[in-house]
Amino acid sequence: MAGVSVRPAAPGDEEAVARLVERLKILNEELDQHFKVVDNLEDVAREYVKATLESSNAFILVAEEAGNIVGFVRVEVVDRLFYKPRLKAVVTDIYVAPRARGRRIGALLLEKAAEEARKRGARIISAVYPVNNEIARSFYERLGFKTLQEEVYREI
Ligand SMILES: CC(C)(COP(=O)(O)OP(=O)(O)OC[C@H]1O[C@@H](n2cnc3c(N)ncnc32)[C@H](O)[C@@H]1OP(=O)(O)O)[C@@H](O)C(=O)NCCC(=O)NCCS
Repeated sequence: MAGVSVRPAAPGDEEAVARLVERLKILNEELDQHFKVVDNLEDVAREYVKATLESSNAFILVAEEAGNIVGFVRVEVVDRLFYKPRLKAVVTDIYVAPRARGRRIGALLLEKAAEEARKRGARIISAVYPVNNEIARSFYERLGFKTLQEEVYREI
């Protein structure tokens, strides 16, 4: 895609990525009050990004356009222990800035994330998102994802 590149996040990207993480979590809150964000969201987002960059089993890729970060994806590689293939990549977060949407930047982020996860030994990639995020549902369906398991809840 012209003008957009995807690369691993570096320490200098922490603030920009943390701002996008905040926007994603606030969007989740708007979609469902079970995702009401914590009062110190800004600090938590910054720590989340920093810890990911220091982690050996999680990574962040950023999409950059004209020197600006316009999107990111965060992935965790988890060991399924009982199942083959053992290593599964989980897309915990993906976000493209509203003005940059609809130009396949999200699809590119996901494709590059799958490539990186494969290099790390994962042979399956999954994603989680709030059940009423219809755009996320269409996005993942279009990119060939299917439902693997369901998360149920009740209040206690
Ligand atoms: C989901 C998101 C990352 C998609 O990013 P994007 O760069 O706009 O998506 P793409 O342009 O790569 O779209 C890829 C496919 O997804 C589907 N899609 C994307 N946006 C869509 C929308 N608003 N409505 C319906 N389908 C959509 C389309 O089928 C599209 O395929 P096409 O280009 O052949 O039509 C972006 O909308 C976003 O950041 N949303 C807010 C955060 C979020 O919901 N994240 C997911 C849960 S963690």
